[in-house]
Amino acid sequence: MSARRIAVIAGDGIGPEVVPAAIGCLDAVAAAHGFSLDWTELPWGSAYYRAHGRMMPLDGLDTLAGHDAVFLGAVGDPGIPDVETLWGLLIPIRRRFDQYVNLRPVRRLPGVRSPLAGTEPIDLVIVRENTEGEYSEVGGRVYRGRPEELAVQEAVFTRHGVTRVAAYAAEVAAGRRGELTSATKSNGIVHTMPFWDEVVRDTVAGAGGVRLRSELIDALAASLVLHPERYDVIVASNLFGDILSDLAGAVTGSIGCAPSANLNPPGRHPSMFEPVHGSAPDIAGQGVANPIGQIWSGALMFDALGEPAAARHLVAAFEAALDGGVRTRDVGGTATTTEMADAVRAHIGALT
Ligand code: NAI
Ligand code: MG
Repeated sequence: MSARRIAVIAGDGIGPEVVPAAIGCLDAVAAAHGFSLDWTELPWGSAYYRAHGRMMPLDGLDTLAGHDAVFLGAVGDPGIPDVETLWGLLIPIRRRFDQYVNLRPVRRLPGVRSPLAGTEPIDLVIVRENTEGEYSEVGGRVYRGRPEELAVQEAVFTRHGVTRVAAYAAEVAAGRRGELTSATKSNGIVHTMPFWDEVVRDTVAGAGGVRLRSELIDALAASLVLHPERYDVIVASNLFGDILSDLAGAVTGSIGCAPSANLNPPGRHPSMFEPVHGSAPDIAGQGVANPIGQIWSGALMFDALGEPAAARHLVAAFEAALDGGVRTRDVGGTATTTEMADAVRAHIGALT
């Protein structure tokens, strides 16, 4: 039985609740498909920070490099500035391993009520640029605490970076309905966004059968609420993609269901799989967190590991569990995290 080496960082808040719940489901599916998962549990995150003054050891990235994939819960702690937790762990992983695509599928799930009145199927994919753009280290802050204090943050867009994410999004669209929407703001952001538009247009022009449409991010946000069924694949910069994917997650029912993959498409480095949500300190420790986002992220990991049948099996199992009426509080049910995961495991067995 071939074993895949997976580094697992449960992290903070609800991370240590949803990650073990998901691991049980992933192991069950892997066993049914003739492979196994060899988990290396890494106790990194805010507790590690309190003890050592850093989110992960100095050689943390080297440790991760020896794995086939990284399975992450969430990081973030109300007692530690977010800039420490995110820039001390999540963002260095995305950048060191050149995980330039953040893939976030969005679907209306059976049995999960959307806050929207309509009932049209929603089935879209957000391809978020994940290594540059607005989340840059270029800038600074001077005259701290003085009336003349100022902060400058530069957005960094490169031809290389925009081309590769647009090419990836076009490929995803070509494998779906062929509709690609590019999120822009070239009417207000006059240097980087026209550049984004040009590079996306030139890149997608070469992709056969893909229809490209550019939409201003503010109108796109409104339209995603009013007509989510119109979208197939959306390609967006780091910031726009981040915001749109929380919005899209909410529109389909709960951010607790939303998965994501941080991909290094050439496969030279490990990719990382994590739910869209954060550490949810408001519900941490109560055992009520929805594990579906974490479980679905595991299905994205199976796809990336070259196990698409296992991915489909896992998705079918959690859809059946939700459809059968087992749901956590955020999607209108009463199930605990463990009860939800148990129901998914039961369906994994039943679907084998
Ligand atoms: P959040 O996603 O943690 O929570 C937003 C809301 O959604 C909360 O009301 C929470 O209870 C609910 N929620 C989230 N996941 C849920 C789940 N699985 N089941 C049921 N309800 C769920 O976002 P928030 O509150 O803005 O951030 C909390 C912390 O997480 C911050 O420190 C933030 O920086 C960090 N964060 C970390 C991310 C990561 O590790 N990738 C991503 C987003 C935020
Ligand atoms: Mg986010």
